[in-house]
Amino acid sequence: MLDPKTIQTIKSTVPVLKEYGTAITSRFYELLFTNHPELLNVFNHANQHKGRQQGALANAVYAAAVHIDRLEEILPAVKQIAHKHRSLGVQPEQYPIVGEYLLKAIKDVLGDAATDDILDAWAKAYQVIADVFIQVEADMYQEAENQVGGWKDFREFKLVKKETESKVITSFYLKPADGNALAPFLPGQYVSVKTEIPGDPHTHIRQYSLSDSTNQDYYRLSVKKEGRVSKYLHDQVKEGDSLFLSAPAGDFTLDTKSQKPLVLIGAGVGLTPLVSMLETTLIDKTDREIHFVHAAINGEFQAMGRRLSGLADGNETLKVYFCYEEPTEQDYQNPHFVKEGYIDSAWLQSVLPTDADFYICGPEGFMKMAVQGLHQMNIPSENIHFEFFGPAIDLSKETVTAQ
Ligand SMILES: Cc1cc2nc3c(=O)[nH]c(=O)nc-3n(C[C@H](O)[C@H](O)[C@H](O)COP(=O)(O)OP(=O)(O)OC[C@H]3O[C@@H](n4cnc5c(N)ncnc54)[C@H](O)[C@@H]3O)c2cc1C
Ligand code: HEM
Repeated sequence: MLDPKTIQTIKSTVPVLKEYGTAITSRFYELLFTNHPELLNVFNHANQHKGRQQGALANAVYAAAVHIDRLEEILPAVKQIAHKHRSLGVQPEQYPIVGEYLLKAIKDVLGDAATDDILDAWAKAYQVIADVFIQVEADMYQEAENQVGGWKDFREFKLVKKETESKVITSFYLKPADGNALAPFLPGQYVSVKTEIPGDPHTHIRQYSLSDSTNQDYYRLSVKKEGRVSKYLHDQVKEGDSLFLSAPAGDFTLDTKSQKPLVLIGAGVGLTPLVSMLETTLIDKTDREIHFVHAAINGEFQAMGRRLSGLADGNETLKVYFCYEEPTEQDYQNPHFVKEGYIDSAWLQSVLPTDADFYICGPEGFMKMAVQGLHQMNIPSENIHFEFFGPAIDLSKETVTAQ
């Protein structure tokens, strides 16, 4: 445990570090990648360019530092990050490397203001924080490997079917190349996919939610064509090809024991974890009331629209609401198309129950609108769950662009 003087130094310097947060973490990544270029194979370059990862790491370190004498209070946040780390294959021996360059970056940016006392206190604090992450991740590695059908690191899968879902989204059905058992997953979880793209000097790792029910002998990923990896998956990966997957990870998971109405709210490709939750709930044949809200540009861009309509038709307990920004002529024939233009919180309030479990996934602006709308309905935070398709941000503070 840290001594009171060190704790005091850490807490009193957090505001200064926060002020220089982005400068410090930008310098940190510069040093890290110059000295350990192999880590360019692990970090997401697009997130780096957009400054997303810088913000995420800085926020996590400062949140941990503020709680340095009661780290157990931030354990849920640690676990969420640890799930991502475990799916990426982050190793204990990489923590001292990150620590070394974080301290060097603090020194470079703060200059003389970073006294030996301050640097010493941060070195000690980083060690304490890193130890917590390493322990949590060690447990997760063990669990992932020791479960039935589990494995360590990345396992080879064969693409058994590729299915076009919409103008921009394609599903990939994958089975283990060794023909052995497949680890179960919780609806809402994701896998990390590691790719070697011909002509690209780096490997790239991306996360994709498992989009089908949990009782299949394959994993299904449904991917929107966007940038480096997703374009490669869409354009170059063919049936019969191999892909390398982590074991399922993530804490955005359906509470299958709850009997409260289930509300799933998604936009664009953000429907993937929600479809898994829906399909899994329907298999269980509960009479749980379900509301599935999906916002898309229109029916041509929307994935799985026909499947969702089919599930709802003749099922009294499932209500499906499609919201199209620019509906086509054909969309007007669809009885599930109920809202034109962007969804807003007033509309959500007009159709949804309040005593329910809410799961949300979509672009940041969309999630901000939905979460804030639910708060206006006095829904307790513990009933609202959401997933980011990138580094997590604080939806109550961050300024984000519209849907
Ligand atoms: C938990 C989780 C679950 C996810 N589930 C899914 C899912 O089910 N389906 C799905 O499709 N995606 C999902 N994602 C997102 C997915 O992991 C990828 O981020 C996504 O496919 C984009 O990766 P990419 O390599 O194609 O694009 P990238 O090359 O990573 O680019 C991403 C975006 O950044 C832009 N960009 C790239 N480089 C720069 C630059 N230099 N400057 C500015 N902008 C730049 C690109 O134009 C693009 O719009 C999930 C993410 C997470 C974290
Ligand atoms: C105590 C030290 C660390 C902290 C506080 C930390 C924090 C974080 C946070 C907050 C995220 C974003 C999670 C999200 O997606 O919401 C993240 C992602 C990540 N971390 Fe760490 N991390 C630490 C150590 C490490 C180490 C040692 C490595 C190994 C090299 C590492 C590699 C990564 C990678 C590759 C990502 C994903 C980046 C991306 O997809 O853009 N981290 N980390």
